[in-house]
Amino acid sequence: MTESTFEPVIIGFTCNWCSYRAADLAGTARMKYPPNVRLIRVMCTGRIDPTFVLKALSEGADAVLIAGCHPGECHYLEQNYKALRRHRLLQKTLAQFGVAPERVRLTWASAAEGAKFAEEIAIAVDEVKKLGPLNWPARPVPVAMAAAEIPVLSEVAP
Ligand code: FES
Repeated sequence: MTESTFEPVIIGFTCNWCSYRAADLAGTARMKYPPNVRLIRVMCTGRIDPTFVLKALSEGADAVLIAGCHPGECHYLEQNYKALRRHRLLQKTLAQFGVAPERVRLTWASAAEGAKFAEEIAIAVDEVKKLGPLNWPARPVPVAMAAAEIPVLSEVAP
């Protein structure tokens, strides 16, 4: 598959109060953006467990986009800061597995920023096209993660 024919699948987690409404605004205003993103609405980015992201990637998504309220504007106080910390952690973890950290993107969009949201999607799709398909289930486990190096639970348990 060449870059020009590859159409990535991106799972987009959006928070109910800002970024989902930005996506809605982009749609109702008929702003054009690539149709590669499948949106999943959550109440807040703080609700996005890192396992949601790993599940999406391991089950066929080429990338994940997390979009929430701007820092300081989360409707659940500081939950988007939690999302920010988790995003950094996810990127580091994915890099250990040989997955480009750019495959998990985090952005902020208020309910009035439909154009920004549409632009973020276009940028994300372009970047993932350059990275190519993830095809995670077919990737070999890095040598550093070989089973021999993982301690047996009975050895570390008190
Ligand atoms: S409500 Fe939007 S990020 Fe928390």
